[in-house]
Amino acid sequence: MSDTKHSYGGMPVNDNKKEIIRLLRQFEGEPVSGQEIGEKLGITRAMVWKYVKSLRKEGYDIRSSPKTGYILDACPDRIEPDELRELLKTTLIGTDIRYYAELESTNSTAREIASRASEGTVIIAETQKKGRGRMGTEWQSMPGGIWLSLILKPSMPLEYISKITLVAGIAVANALRAIGVDAHIKWPNDVLVRGKKICGILTEVNAEVEKVDYVILGIGINANVRLSDLKEEIRKNSTSIANELGKVIDRTAFVAMFLYELEQQYIRFETRQFTDIVDEWINLSDTIGKDVKVTTPSRIIEGKAVGVTEKGALVVLDRNGKKQEIIAGNCRYSD
Ligand code: BTN
Repeated sequence: MSDTKHSYGGMPVNDNKKEIIRLLRQFEGEPVSGQEIGEKLGITRAMVWKYVKSLRKEGYDIRSSPKTGYILDACPDRIEPDELRELLKTTLIGTDIRYYAELESTNSTAREIASRASEGTVIIAETQKKGRGRMGTEWQSMPGGIWLSLILKPSMPLEYISKITLVAGIAVANALRAIGVDAHIKWPNDVLVRGKKICGILTEVNAEVEKVDYVILGIGINANVRLSDLKEEIRKNSTSIANELGKVIDRTAFVAMFLYELEQQYIRFETRQFTDIVDEWINLSDTIGKDVKVTTPSRIIEGKAVGVTEKGALVVLDRNGKKQEIIAGNCRYSD
């Protein structure tokens, strides 16, 4: 809940604190004097000091020296919705951002509001109590991760919708690569680094016969998640951004960059540049060329993954030399 108490300067206390953080961030590690901050905010140096002490309690690491001023050394590891809105360079995705400290599942909340929400609405939660994975699995969603769902309303026949998953995988992989994490995509939609899962995507579609009402794109990225917090059976095949880079990342900045990348990919989808999408997916793929065993509700197909169709189906050359197209299923690599 927001603190609407007002300071002597007239601005709400929280706005003053936000302004101080914004100012210190702008100076990127350079000191800013209490005098200068006070003048910009229209408050006394003593008030600035009071706010700094309060910000420290909230987890901001602010150094102070009577001679030079204040320096922001580190921010608490939280996704800051206001800052995210400011950083976003998108025109559709994230025009409505709904941020929660905790939810059962961002996908479930997205479904509840989807019919009345505008396209591009993003639901973010710091933690999920009942995070959902593909095929009815549980998705562990502890602090430090990026757990978000997007509401999309593409004007596209139902048969094309499966490609949205490819688009999401490409966007995650590209955003990770942009910060130096060597990500690849495992069909249909796991993002892996050095063979370990860093992100999962859960796509849910609501449609009637041919008309798509909405698509919920649920994305879970192990950003700053502590691997030791994951259940053992999950941990052995998982990694996180922090684990790969050896440092905790600024999740707010990463989400802003990722949503921008996703919007670029979504524009390609909406303008039906399907060949480009498939080509890029294949370039980023971890699966093509590997021996796989794919389990679907009706069959098991074993063979070599040789391609992906424009519908997002995996093409497997089976043991009889026959090409099989699989639109959905669980893919394992054969030893
Ligand atoms: C998978 O099994 O690989 C898909 C995992 C998807 C997890 C994300 S986290 C945000 C969104 N909300 C959910 O409940 N699930 C998805």
